[in-house]
Amino acid sequence: MKSPKIQQRVSLKHYNTFGIDARAKEFVSVESVDQLKQLLALDKEKFFLGGGSNMLLTRNVDALVVHLNLKGKEVVSEDEDQVVVKAMAGENWHEFVLWTLGRDFGGIENLSLIPGNVGTAPIQNIGAYGVELKDVFVSCQAIHIKTGEERTFSLGDCQFGYRDSIFKNEAKGLYVITAVTFALSKKDHRLNTSYGAIEKEIAARDIKEPTIQDVSNAVIAIRQSKLPDPKELGNSGSFFKNPVISIADFKKLQKKHPLIPHYILNQEKVKVPAGWLIEQAGFKGKRFGDAGVHTKQALVLVNYGDASGKEIWELAQRIQREVKKRFDIAIEAEVNIL
Ligand code: EPU
Repeated sequence: MKSPKIQQRVSLKHYNTFGIDARAKEFVSVESVDQLKQLLALDKEKFFLGGGSNMLLTRNVDALVVHLNLKGKEVVSEDEDQVVVKAMAGENWHEFVLWTLGRDFGGIENLSLIPGNVGTAPIQNIGAYGVELKDVFVSCQAIHIKTGEERTFSLGDCQFGYRDSIFKNEAKGLYVITAVTFALSKKDHRLNTSYGAIEKEIAARDIKEPTIQDVSNAVIAIRQSKLPDPKELGNSGSFFKNPVISIADFKKLQKKHPLIPHYILNQEKVKVPAGWLIEQAGFKGKRFGDAGVHTKQALVLVNYGDASGKEIWELAQRIQREVKKRFDIAIEAEVNIL
């Protein structure tokens, strides 16, 4: 087995979608599970990096940064109706979605164009337009960072919730995910077009019987109209999670702001869009140096070029304080802050 080369003092600017120019003390890219195991055995502090699409680097990383570049996707099994596919952690998420669409496998078309890699998708249970990763997830393979032991996490093991999983809680920092397995449909695809924006987009295209490709195209168009492309403008998608508040608090809020968009979760809880709260607090489209709030979606913080991670984090905290002051709601970062 070829040993991967460890480099010294490497800029991570091209390894995080915010485009933050933080430095790794040491850096290595691994292309196989065996290489990964070899590195895990080294007595060094390690930091694991996937697509870098859900993190904000506020400092240099004083560790060995291990870039997970494991590639490969395959059909594991299939019958007439369903196919089970496995993708390695370093596969780009959207390229994987396109690969499934190219074979007419249904289930992840609503998750088109989400930045990041396959291996990090389960950590925050990526979701968009009425579909979450958990809806198609079968299992994932992971390696314990300290012991090197391989383990398979089933759907139940992962304890998925809204932008949440075991990997953000009791298993946080303990495992590296190496591959993910999904169950997708081969025919009679169950389309999820109930999200208003998708319905509108499909109607505007005059499509009567949408296919999974049509849904994907609609999602791509909606995302492109609202969300900045990290290749053009550094960002990490939604910076904050949508807060969940009690019905009682929501009723008070609705009295003051009758037009507040909301989503009733159950008899006790309501989810409120953080983007709306941030826009009402006056931050949409604001720019402070090179750190800013996106002009078309207030939930997204952007790096106009040379913002440091610290500057973005300061802006995020300023937004949190203002939203708390105006609405008495604490909004939490969705992105991992380092
Ligand atoms: N809104 C505003 N102002 C804004 C942004 C949103 O008033 O600047 C209002 C909209 O008018 C709408 C509501 O907020 O009434 C919801 O907006 P949108 O449909 O854009 O969705 P979101 O709640 O802001 C969530 C996810 C996105 C995902 C979309 C679509 C979170 C934290 N974000 O955003 O996920 O694409 O729904 O499903 O749950 C991501 O995680 O990186 C991401 C982009």
